[in-house]
Formats: sequence, C-alpha cells, structure tokens
Amino acid sequence: MAAGSMSPTVIPVAGAPGYDVTVGRDLLGQVPAAIGPRAAKVLIVHAPPLATRAEELRERLQAGGLEALILEVPDAEGAKRIEVAAFCWEILGKSDFTRTDAVVGLGGGAVTDLAGFVAATWLRGVRVVQVPTSVLGMVDAAVGGKTGINTAEGKNLVGAFWAPGAVLCDLDLLRTLPRNELLAGYAEVVKCGFIQDPRILELVETDLDAATDPDSPAFREAVERAIAVKARVVGEDFTEQGLREILNYGHTLGHAIEQAERYTWRHGAAISIGMVFAAELSRLTRGLSDEAVERHRAILESLTLPTGYPADRWGHLLATMQRDKKARAGMLRFICLDDIGRPAAVEGPDDALLFAAYQNVAD
Ligand code: GLY
Repeated sequence: MAAGSMSPTVIPVAGAPGYDVTVGRDLLGQVPAAIGPRAAKVLIVHAPPLATRAEELRERLQAGGLEALILEVPDAEGAKRIEVAAFCWEILGKSDFTRTDAVVGLGGGAVTDLAGFVAATWLRGVRVVQVPTSVLGMVDAAVGGKTGINTAEGKNLVGAFWAPGAVLCDLDLLRTLPRNELLAGYAEVVKCGFIQDPRILELVETDLDAATDPDSPAFREAVERAIAVKARVVGEDFTEQGLREILNYGHTLGHAIEQAERYTWRHGAAISIGMVFAAELSRLTRGLSDEAVERHRAILESLTLPTGYPADRWGHLLATMQRDKKARAGMLRFICLDDIGRPAAVEGPDDALLFAAYQNVAD
C-alpha cells in the first residue's frame, strides 16, 4: 500500500486477462497508456457533470495522435438503458470503430457499467478503460468487470462479465463530490472491512474525518484496502461461481429496500440497512457476537447512514426477496458473518429467523 505517498498504487486483478487498478492523483495523463498502442479511435462516455474533464481527456488523447470522440450520457440509472446503449453503438458504427479501438468510461458506477457493456458488445468486445469518479465506482462498480444495463423487469438483467483493460482511480476527482454521496459510497468501503479487512473499520473508528476526507492518507488507505479486497475476490472468481458472492454482503435486503424505495435511495444507504440486517441474522444463525453487531451500527451511524427501516415493511421486503430468488432460480441466500472478516453463506433460513432478525432492524 502506498497510502500517504503521492505515487500511484497499482493493485493487480488476477485472471485471464488480468488487469491493474491504479489509485493515485492526477491520473488522467495515464489514460493514453492504458488504452494501449493498438487503438486509433476512442469513445469517451461520460456523465454531464464531467464535461470539462472529458474535454480535457479528449485533448490529451488527440495530442497523442488518437481520434477521440465524446459522448455525454444521462447521469445515474438513466445511463443504463437500452436506448442509451443503442445510441453508443450508433456512434461507434457511424465512426467506423474497429475491434482494436477503445471505449473510456468516465463517471459513476452507472456510467462505467454502461461503458463496459457497450465495449463488451461492440464487435463482440473492445478494450474499455474505466475512470470511475465516485467512491462506489472506485471500490466496486468499475473494478470487477460486471457490466450491464437495466430492463423494465429489473436492474442489471442484461449484461456481460467483461474485464477492463485498466481501471484508473484518480482521488482528485472525488474532491467535488457532495458529502452525502461520498458517505453513501463509503458503505461499500466498510463492507470490505466487515467481510475481509478489519483494518478499514479501525481507520473509520480511529478518525472518521480523516477516513472520509479524499485528501487524507487514511482515506486513501481505506479505499486502497477496499479495492484490494475486491481485486482478490474477483481475481479468484471473476464470473461469480462461488467466492464472489461475499461481495453481496448486505445486498439481499439492500436490493429489496432499493426496489421498495423505487430506486430513489442511494445504493449505499440501502445496503447499510442490509448489512445491519445481515449482522443480526448472523447473530441468530452463526453466533456472531453482540459486540460485532453493535460495531456495524456504530460505524454505519458514524457515516450518517441509515441502520433501521419501518417495521410494517417486512412483508413487502420478504415478498421482494422471494421474487428475486425465484427470478434467479435459487434458494434465498444471505451472506452472513461468523466473525468480522469471516463470511459464510446462509441458505434458505426459516422465515421466523428472518423475521426475528428484522425485528432488531425495524424502527
Ligand atoms: N458488486 C458485487 C460484485 O461485483 O460482485
């Protein structure tokens, strides 16, 4: 880890093909090298607030002899629509993009999901370089090669596993992020602390302000450690045959809450409640200590994330989780913890146990 130093940290993701996630400052200059020598054309897909950065990047790429196009797409989930993907394909087609050309995703998790999907599908796959601009994107969405769009039937139902050529996490891009957005994204950082790297939790507990300040070494260390957790897991199980599901800690209930809130909540807020629920369920099914459960609440509340949800919504949430389970042709599964850093899957728990766990989450 290079936390505290100014030089970039390179976190490799193993696999075929493997790729590097680079964390540092002022990294836009590294995009041309990350695109590689074979591309003649690059499409930069970006969200509206990043228009100036996208233009800066276009100029850099053009100076390096590449033909660079910019395409602004809607922000957040508005990016992950088939119409938006189709528009990207139209631009690639009209501009004669070949299999050796490349796409750059510059934005939050939704934009990098879309850019990755467009790259995965154009001519059966072209190189994508991801430049995430949110905490969620840096530690989760842009890192693991899951790409996709939503359909009327649900989120992420259409997509592909497509390894990026490189991921560049430029911490300078987080400076202008609204505080509540940064803290919501931080839910995925502490998730990595709960499932594998407790040092992340200590950083938050020791100095919350430093751990959540993009300019501080503590923030950089927490983000690098979260990326390292994701890189290790994805490197072992890119296509989610087993181990990768530990990254879904807090997500089974979290996804149901996101649906119940009609996707108006930030993802991190929903999975914050989901993690407290998973901890409560772990207490009942895996003997997780009271102290570890309370540690969840204390950390998430210090990040001003929600840890409770209305008691009368349980029936609705359970029905949503059951529907989701059917759609995926499986048992209702929860990632739980035997201890902090020791995840275990719990399959088909009794409705009574689930209800009991929810009682401790209900407002
Ligand atoms: N966000 C969960 C995963 O990448 O597998």
